[in-house]
Amino acid sequence: MKPKSIEIGSVITPNNVFLAPLAGYTDFAFRNICISYGAGLTFTEMVSANGLLYGSKATKDLLYTTDAEKIKAVQLFGSDPDIMREAVLSEPLAPFDVIDVNMGCPVPKIYSNGAGSALLEDLPRAEKILSAMAKTGRNITVKIRLGTVRGKSVAVQFAEMAEGAGVKLIAVHGRYRPDYYSGEADVKEIAAVKNAVHIPVIANGGIFCAEDADKMMRETGADGVMVARGALGRPFVFSEILGRDYEYDLVKTVKRHIALLKTRFDDKFIAVNFRKVIPNYLKGVKCGKELKLAFVKVNSTAEIESLLDRLEK
Ligand SMILES: Cc1cc2nc3c(=O)[nH]c(=O)nc-3n(C[C@H](O)[C@H](O)[C@H](O)COP(=O)(O)O)c2cc1C
Repeated sequence: MKPKSIEIGSVITPNNVFLAPLAGYTDFAFRNICISYGAGLTFTEMVSANGLLYGSKATKDLLYTTDAEKIKAVQLFGSDPDIMREAVLSEPLAPFDVIDVNMGCPVPKIYSNGAGSALLEDLPRAEKILSAMAKTGRNITVKIRLGTVRGKSVAVQFAEMAEGAGVKLIAVHGRYRPDYYSGEADVKEIAAVKNAVHIPVIANGGIFCAEDADKMMRETGADGVMVARGALGRPFVFSEILGRDYEYDLVKTVKRHIALLKTRFDDKFIAVNFRKVIPNYLKGVKCGKELKLAFVKVNSTAEIESLLDRLEK
């Protein structure tokens, strides 16, 4: 696809291939690696507005960014307009250039609290949240799904409301709540959103390679794409989509991911977290079942590194 910058209120991204927020995966270290492969914008994992106001250690960790993120974007979730506004104005969010709101999360714990995709069923409340946040003058964006009932898209109506509320960009995941992450994204519905609003529309869902991104751009007319699972273990996907030359070395990349995490987190925490991260990196790598199994039982980063050395032999 042909890269172009995207204007999000007062900021301009270097290109239109973004990394989606992925809870449990898009930590600052992974975001740094994706940026080095060209990602035009990255987001923190979703952060609870309530948790943020309580100032928990876990929330502080989620909000941690480095200078590699020249444009800093955070994703918030919540259901109360006053709390969401307060969160936008809070000190921990001061460094962020873009504040995105999650209005697509299908997970029962979030949905049953009236946040995430529940807001697709309550446009008046969603409108109150977005306009309260936008009135602060900050760059507010929103990420949605098509709706909560398969085939009953509210995306166009929602996007028009969001634009009216002062939102600067809308990312549309072209699936419904019951789909979770399966099936194909409905490109027609994303195209309908693009035709309905003047703010940038970013298409998301099922982009795993350059051809997928090209197809998504062609079929939706969107301003850009957002890659989620397609980036896990494959951060070079951004260079592929952008048509840039790149070098990729699995072992070096994993070691770099770990080294970055070590600047912030303790060793055991990193290792335990990496049990779920490493299978993405190892997908398609022929190294034997025994070695792959050993990776998901690690208790220290030294163990990961010695297993990586075995991978190299
Ligand atoms: C493990 C996992 C965690 C996710 N966490 C978030 C999140 O924190 N915020 C969000 O807006 N979407 C989240 N999503 C949804 C993705 O951002 C994206 O919309 C979805 O995976 C569809 O894109 P894909 O088909 O390219 O994976 C998550 C998805 C997965 C699989």
